[in-house]
Amino acid sequence: MCGIVGVLGDHEAAPLLVEALKRLEYRGYDSAGIATINDGRLDRRRAVGKLVNLADLLVHHPLAGKAGIGHTRWATHGAPTEANAHPHRSGPVAVVHNGIIENFRALRAELASHGIAHETETDTETVALLAHHFMQQGMGPVEAARATIARLEGAYALCFLFEGEADLLVAARRGSPLAVGHGDGEMFVGSDAIALAPMTDRITYLEEGDIAVVTRDSLVITDVNGHLANRPIKTIEIEAARVDKAGHRHFMAKEIAEQPSVIGAALGHYLSSDGTCLTLPEGVPDFAKVERLTLVACGTAYYACLTAKYWFEQLARLPVEVDIASEFRYREPPVSPGTTALFVSQSGETADTLAALRYMQGRAAKIVSVVNVPESSIARESDLALSIHAGAEIGVASTKAFTCQLTVLLLLALKAAQDRGHVGAERLADLLSGLRALPATFNTAMERNEQIRAIARQLATAPSALFLGRGLMYPLALEGALKLKEISYIHAEAYASGELKHGPIALIDETMPVVVMAPCDALFDKTVSNMQEVMARGGRILLVSDARGVTQAGDCVWQTITLPDTDPILAPILYALPAQLIAYHTAVAKGTDVDQPRNLAKSVTVE
Ligand code: AGP
Repeated sequence: MCGIVGVLGDHEAAPLLVEALKRLEYRGYDSAGIATINDGRLDRRRAVGKLVNLADLLVHHPLAGKAGIGHTRWATHGAPTEANAHPHRSGPVAVVHNGIIENFRALRAELASHGIAHETETDTETVALLAHHFMQQGMGPVEAARATIARLEGAYALCFLFEGEADLLVAARRGSPLAVGHGDGEMFVGSDAIALAPMTDRITYLEEGDIAVVTRDSLVITDVNGHLANRPIKTIEIEAARVDKAGHRHFMAKEIAEQPSVIGAALGHYLSSDGTCLTLPEGVPDFAKVERLTLVACGTAYYACLTAKYWFEQLARLPVEVDIASEFRYREPPVSPGTTALFVSQSGETADTLAALRYMQGRAAKIVSVVNVPESSIARESDLALSIHAGAEIGVASTKAFTCQLTVLLLLALKAAQDRGHVGAERLADLLSGLRALPATFNTAMERNEQIRAIARQLATAPSALFLGRGLMYPLALEGALKLKEISYIHAEAYASGELKHGPIALIDETMPVVVMAPCDALFDKTVSNMQEVMARGGRILLVSDARGVTQAGDCVWQTITLPDTDPILAPILYALPAQLIAYHTAVAKGTDVDQPRNLAKSVTVE
């Protein structure tokens, strides 16, 4: 999704704007631009493609001035061209925008009736034209910005800059996150704290409907009703150093390698110091009183929820329904009073998941979220938000967040099993011991990295791939297929192994690798039968299992990846690693943009 930044500084704004936009690159974009006020004059530079193109442009055509705005655009309305890139401008008004203005066509027609024509295909240009129109009617900048915002429908984070106003930014938030950064005699605006980290760690998060009038020594916020609002200044712990690759080639590689430590961090937050007792915070439901659990998320987070369904139902005997967020509220599900709703989101800003959460407000008995950004919208609108403590995840493909989501969800399932009297002390101790051993088990599994890199070179030429899994490994097969397709662009599908005979087996031939995620558990014999069916038709099996499974499968499979033994309950967490590495090395072999795959954004803040 788009990234927004604004600077009212006491140094040249352009370098600060570009640096902040670099920290927003992970959100996904296809063009970028900045605008500054220099000696009262508003000017802008925009470029298609990566930020380096904008930086090159600024070398040859620099922009001076200590006040400015910047933007990385993920195209929604209009192709990724320079003309469609932000900031958009009309006369003295420049604006950057994240979101979708749903009534922009009606506004365009209204402006056309006043003889005001558009030059681009974007909804954002309409915002600039409307504010300019109001200024031509005699309004001042702030009044014109407010009047414009009042006319907008849809989701937006906006930041306005005005010619002649070198000490003014007007920012507004509805449906897309936006924050104000407090410097010393400087002020900043940004889509998130990561963008602002090099400039300040003192952040004010705007709430839905807020409008912020910012000068270097003042911040006036009005709420959705136009009343003065006092939003707190929070000190955010995102060190500037944290958003770098730490010597890895890609952020995704760094974040895969961080998993042992961040899983350990998540466990450290929610287990006693000796690791033998759950220490989940106040506010976690007493699951003995929960009749039904509804889990809602998107993408990889949804697959974490699908995995958790097996855990809650098997360990706690608690009925669980899982929904894709974008489908959930339109299904208009009836919600029984004893329902607890749980939302999982790395960014905490996914529009579909936030909308599903709002559907459950007033319907579910309790709303709990599992997020990686504690100050995010989803966290703030939950009765209880549990952080996964994965640290900033920059690669668009979610890796460490997924395994930390699974870790926290399993701890919740174990609490539910305890609350409902379905797990004995010995079994609980067993599982907690296995969880505590996971970081070391991950490190052992990382020894397969070079082998997986070699296998991936052969996968890179495949036109498509199939992932299979049974039981707890079925959601992981779905995640493995998503990882491969989203960063290598190889079409991949996942099926429950037992479904193969009901259609997908028609796809099998020697060109399609079949990745089977299967520890040697109670279902393994059935999976061996599935593998035999595939190989009997010339299919190539890549088996990811433990030593016993690899031995039992025999030597007719195409390739095997042997993982350390782990409790079957914990297998989805550990087996995520080879799924991630298969995707990563295949993408590297194909030369795709691993950290910012085409068309994708890290945080999908539009529906
Ligand atoms: C995962 O690799 C993708 N980047 C995507 O599916 C992501 O999981 C999904 O968009 C949900 O994002 P969230 O966890 O921030 O809500």
